[in-house]
Amino acid sequence: MSITVNGVTHAAHVPAERLLVEWLRDDLGLTGTHVGCTTSQCGACHVEVDGEVVKACTILVAQCQGAAITTIEGLGTPEALHPMQEAFRTAHGLQCGFCTPGMVMAGIAIARAHGGDVSEEVIRHELEGNLCRCTGYQNIVAAIRLGARAMAEAGLLKETA
Ligand code: FES
Ligand code: FES
Repeated sequence: MSITVNGVTHAAHVPAERLLVEWLRDDLGLTGTHVGCTTSQCGACHVEVDGEVVKACTILVAQCQGAAITTIEGLGTPEALHPMQEAFRTAHGLQCGFCTPGMVMAGIAIARAHGGDVSEEVIRHELEGNLCRCTGYQNIVAAIRLGARAMAEAGLLKETA
């Protein structure tokens, strides 16, 4: 199979039951995608597959033939963070950081779906599939609001066109 991850195309030779999150972490070394449960509850494994944010513990590599995948490593660089990553830093949207990659990916999806002026209420509803064990939701919500505005200002949201 041929799968593109963060702009690099890989040949994947994996068993039929191999989970996407296992392949990303164990075979490609992209350990920014975390595993908090493997039961589709925590959202720590969120990645983008062909523009849709999905839980990588619930999808098989075999389902990704020809797909373009973006992980947290593909969003920005330490020198030039993605606006949503920058917002999490600015708004102190993390404590231990374990849930953060999934929260950032979810935040980007929320911004794309609801625009730069997305409300706190909508963000809280949309984050139902993301768990934070540090109970830091207040700042996470604030970070996503900030990140959504920044994405709009950077022209990264269709709604702002
Ligand atoms: Fe995928 Fe928790 S590891 S939802
Ligand atoms: Fe620790 Fe969310 S910041 S689990």
